[in-house]
Amino acid sequence: MNADELKAQVARAALAHVPEGAVIGVGTGSTVNHFIDALATVAGRIAGAVSSSEASSERLRRHGITVFETTAVERLPVYVDGADEIDARGYMIKGGGAALTREKIVADLADRFVCIADHSKLVDVLGRYPLPVEVIAMAAPQVARRFAEQGGTATLRRNGEGLPLLTDNGHPILDVRGLVIADPPRLEEEINQWPGVVTCGIFARHKASLCLLGTPEGVRTLTF
Ligand code: 5RP
Repeated sequence: MNADELKAQVARAALAHVPEGAVIGVGTGSTVNHFIDALATVAGRIAGAVSSSEASSERLRRHGITVFETTAVERLPVYVDGADEIDARGYMIKGGGAALTREKIVADLADRFVCIADHSKLVDVLGRYPLPVEVIAMAAPQVARRFAEQGGTATLRRNGEGLPLLTDNGHPILDVRGLVIADPPRLEEEINQWPGVVTCGIFARHKASLCLLGTPEGVRTLTF
């Protein structure tokens, strides 16, 4: 099985965690796109979804699934999303698809975070994947200097035309290479204090409740 088939496999497995009649949280990315497509086959089973990006909302609507604003819901039973890295404690790096801020907002509304990922995402220590950090543009150079003090190298993410990529919220993203994130909760808390940081892509406070991991031998379930 290639990586895409593994993603499709865990996306289908995630349907077992979707409660009947509920509004659920839906994330962003290629694994989640498979989940949305799987959800479409049982669309009548849910009341709708809250999504973490314009791209996912559009895909949900195309499948006839009602999309609610985050402001219209108080709680969600479950949030299903992918990850760029996940460790054995359920801590994650997210934001490769530039949706990290809305992902954290929707995850915060949810009782459970179901992470869906292929086995290449499971790591011993977070940090090989560049850490995405959404920032207010005027703070980007100072935030980059702070990362340099931590041994990291921050670069502005660019779009296909070479311009700074802007998130759905209109902010740029720094991708930070060279960090070894041994203590994700501590580093997340520290970065969150830096002026101009909108969202840090470490999901420690909002870690996974369980992870459905796609492997060539089938879906492995990790619970945290
Ligand atoms: C988007 C994310 C995604 O969950 C993450 O990038 C994984 O994406 P994919 O499922 O395409 O591998 O955090 O901001």
